[in-house]
Amino acid sequence: MSGLVIAVDGPAAAGKGTLARRLAAALNLAHLDTGNLYRAVAARLLEEGVSAEDVERATRVAAELQVQDLERADLRTERVGQVASRVSAYPEVRAALLEFQRRFAKEPPEGRAGAILDGRDIGTVVCPDAPIKLFVTASLEARARRRHEELLARGEPTIYAHVLAEMEARDTRDRDRLVAPLRAASDAVTLDTTNLSADEVFAAAMAVVAEKSGHSKASVRSGTVEQY
Ligand code: DC
Repeated sequence: MSGLVIAVDGPAAAGKGTLARRLAAALNLAHLDTGNLYRAVAARLLEEGVSAEDVERATRVAAELQVQDLERADLRTERVGQVASRVSAYPEVRAALLEFQRRFAKEPPEGRAGAILDGRDIGTVVCPDAPIKLFVTASLEARARRRHEELLARGEPTIYAHVLAEMEARDTRDRDRLVAPLRAASDAVTLDTTNLSADEVFAAAMAVVAEKSGHSKASVRSGTVEQY
């Protein structure tokens, strides 16, 4: 049973996670942060002391990933994010995680009107037929500043210049990889969040949902997505 599917893509710390969570709550959609799949693979490799270069082991870990792996407390650390960016460049790892993502989109948990997935290749590869695609981006500096503040708030001591350099390296790797590189789908609507608050981004996204679905903003806001 599939319902409405919304694809949200964009670079690290552009605000896509926050936006996807808010849209999910407003529209009664199941939400999957697909970065956590790659992060969970990375966290397991780090834990096992296995090199991020070990494609075979990374693929095996991806194929055997359990739901509880997505609940690890260390998934959001910078170290895990860097290794996640490396393992996500392997076609074998991406292939091992593809079916899970597609099934989530197609068969959201009972009672949900559909699914929203956020990542790098949702609109281009995972759900190319999604009727609503958002590409959420922001300047490198704005994203590094947000990530820096987030890390400080979590008690991870960091230097802004390091966060900026690592984010630039991750952007380059995510954009330049051969398989499913980060890019906006041709039918995605781009939201540049550099100078927008979270509320403004949410309002802009809801306007896109309303327009794409052919409903008035009011009916979308009241959550009547059963009509999609
Ligand atoms: O969104 P994030 O920072 O949690 O993602 C971590 C890494 O996972 C990111 O650098 C690239 C990779 N990723 C991906 O390749 N495809 C996705 N759909 C989501 C994340």
